[in-house]
Order: sequence, then C-alpha cells, then structure tokens
Amino acid sequence: MDKSSDQLREVHVPHHLAGVFSSHFGANQNVRIFRAPGRVNIIGEHTDYNDGFVLPAAIDLYTWAAIAPRSDRLLSIFSENFGESAEIDLDERFPKSRDHWTDYVRGVAIMLQKAGVPLPGASLAIYSSVPLGSGLSSSAALEVSVASALLAVSGHTLPLPEVARICQRAENEFVGARVGIMDQIASCVGASDKAILLDCRSLNYELLPMPAGVTMVICNTMVKHEHSGGEYNDRRAQCEEGVCNLKKYYPQIRALRDVTLAQLEAHRTDLPELIYRRCHHVVSENERVLQTVVAWHKGDWAQIGKLMAESHVSLKRDYEVSSRELDLLVEAAAGRSGLIGARMTGGGFGGCTINLVNNASVAGFTDAVREAYKNALGIDAEIYVTTAGAGVSEVHGNA
Ligand code: GLA
Repeated sequence: MDKSSDQLREVHVPHHLAGVFSSHFGANQNVRIFRAPGRVNIIGEHTDYNDGFVLPAAIDLYTWAAIAPRSDRLLSIFSENFGESAEIDLDERFPKSRDHWTDYVRGVAIMLQKAGVPLPGASLAIYSSVPLGSGLSSSAALEVSVASALLAVSGHTLPLPEVARICQRAENEFVGARVGIMDQIASCVGASDKAILLDCRSLNYELLPMPAGVTMVICNTMVKHEHSGGEYNDRRAQCEEGVCNLKKYYPQIRALRDVTLAQLEAHRTDLPELIYRRCHHVVSENERVLQTVVAWHKGDWAQIGKLMAESHVSLKRDYEVSSRELDLLVEAAAGRSGLIGARMTGGGFGGCTINLVNNASVAGFTDAVREAYKNALGIDAEIYVTTAGAGVSEVHGNA
C-alpha cells in the first residue's frame, strides 16, 4: 500500500460511510461520524501494564463510526469490513463475549453504562482502514471511535483519559484481554507529527515533535496475532509474579516500574529464571524509553537506533514475543541506507515492525525490505509509510 493512494481513499471514507449508513438504516437521519486512529509504538513494549513508560504515535489509519440515535434499546451495527450486521440489546441482563468483533462494541457500551452514561439505542455503521490483528491497535481504534459516537448520541462528554480507561476496561473485563492503556490513550490524544511520551501510571503525557526529516515506515509480516487470553495474558501474569517475589526484598514496589536494574540483578538468583528474564525485559525497556527521550531532545538518532535494536533483542530473547517473521523484517531492514532504527511494534507474535527512516531513503528502503521478505518467506509484506496523526475526532464537512 502506498501512502498517496491510501490517503486519497481516507478522504472519501466519510462520504462513503454516510452512504453505507443510509442504505442500511434509512436516509434523512441525523448521522454523525467519528474517527479514531490506530497507533504504532516507537519504543516501550509491554511496559504499559507494568505502570511504565511508552512512546507511541497515532497513525494516519483510522476506524470510522457513523451513528444516529434510535427510539428502541438496540445497537444495530453494520461492519463494512466484515459485510456483517449485528444487534446488541442494551438491556441484555447477562451479556457474554462471543469471540466476535461485536464484543468490542458491546464491551464499550457496557462499560459506558457502568460509568453512569445512559445510552440510547443507536444505529452504527463502521469501517476501518487499520489492518486487523496486525499490532496497530485496530481494537483500540474500534473501541475509541464507538465510545465517542455513543457518548455523542447520549449527549455526554468525558475527558479523553477517562474515555481511554473505559475502552481499556471493555477489553480487560468483557473481551478478556488484559491489555494496558497505551493503545487507547494514543488513539484518544494523538497529535499530528507528534509522538506521545506517556507515563502509564499517572497518564501524564508529553507530545514530542517528530523531526521533519524522519518517516515512520511500518512493515506488516501479514501474520496476525491473537490477543484475547493466551500468551499476552501469560506475560502479564509473569510480571505480576516478578513483583510478588521482589516485594519480599523491596516492600515499597507496586509494579515493575518501581524496580531498578541494580535491584533486579541483586535478586536474580532468587527469581525463577523465566520470571527474571521477563522482569529484565520490562525494567530495561523502561530505561530505554527514558534514554530515547533524552536522545530525542538532543537529536541523537544514532542512539535512538541503537536503543530500538536493543529493544527488539530484549523482546525476542527475554520476553519471547517476537516471531520468525518479525525477526526477518528487522534483519531485512538492518544496515539499509537511511535506516535509523527498526524493531517489532505492539504485542508481538506476528504483526508489524516500526522503522524510522530518513525521508530521502524511504522509497529505496521499502522496495528493498519488501523484496528481502518476499525472497525469504514468499510473502508480500504490506508497508505503510505513515505520519503521526491526530487522535479521535468528529468528522465534519464531508458526510
Ligand atoms: C498490545 C496492548 C498494549 C501493550 C502492547 C505491548 O498492543 O494492547 O496495551 O501492552 O501490546 O506493548
């Protein structure tokens, strides 16, 4: 996929989605459209649920939700991506997740109501250009766009960090994936040409300007990951086991965020080897995020590239969330002209790599990586040449 054709399509989405909405739910309704972005993480992987630091950016791929209120108690939904309709009864007494895309919508509706937002019934048409299951937060983009749309028809507003928390709760408590807060916050507060340095404990964040000469190139292994349950939740449990063990020596710690490398090393042999490695990734990754920010302010891109490479190795060896395909894409990028840094991005087990590349080298870089990956695995990688985009917003004018 190349940037210019992709952006052209994005421009037409609201108009198209308004048409889809009328053909499914009837014309002449007061339709409003909301758009929430996916995200890429530059560095700080698997640190968010350890109260740590992350450095993501919202990307210019989005999920759109067109909405109008209904007079009954149903959410009637049409997904343009799946070509599927579904209904959710807002008064259902014992809603259960079904391992289906509608779980995200249902989960958000439940958590909004639990947070005291009285929801009316609504018709919703949804379309996403965020590739699904690719580590670019298609789930958070869906949750945040739907939450914003539902809030609008209910006449309520909530501060963005609260919207993010509600969406995270939907995923944790209803869908069953114990994800952290990074994706939802990035989708809510992203800003054009800015990376977001987020403290996942306080939710305080700082926007760091993306330098004009650097492009984010995202390479998709085309291998989908699965989040609800499984390995992701195991990693989280292993971190909690680490905290539990380390508390015996450092009672004041609440999360791995509070542990220094020196403290961890001092008790290396007191921890099961696997738990030590998981903790080592998280504690060292937190330091790498903070070092990246120092280098960012200095414009020291060589140092940032080095930290990204270390992050990838740590995710591969200590945290064991990389995959052969991700490693191949990182190797295919290494040493290419114009490359600043490359690593896997997102939860892992498939999905994408993030590559920071000097603008002038982007075309040559993408061609070379695509070819190397194809030669190694016979798979055509999709490559998204992105800029850091804005967070969730209502789309005016085109609908
Ligand atoms: C997924 C989760 C995030 C975060 C990343 C790993 O994207 O949704 O909360 O934990 O994995 O950094």
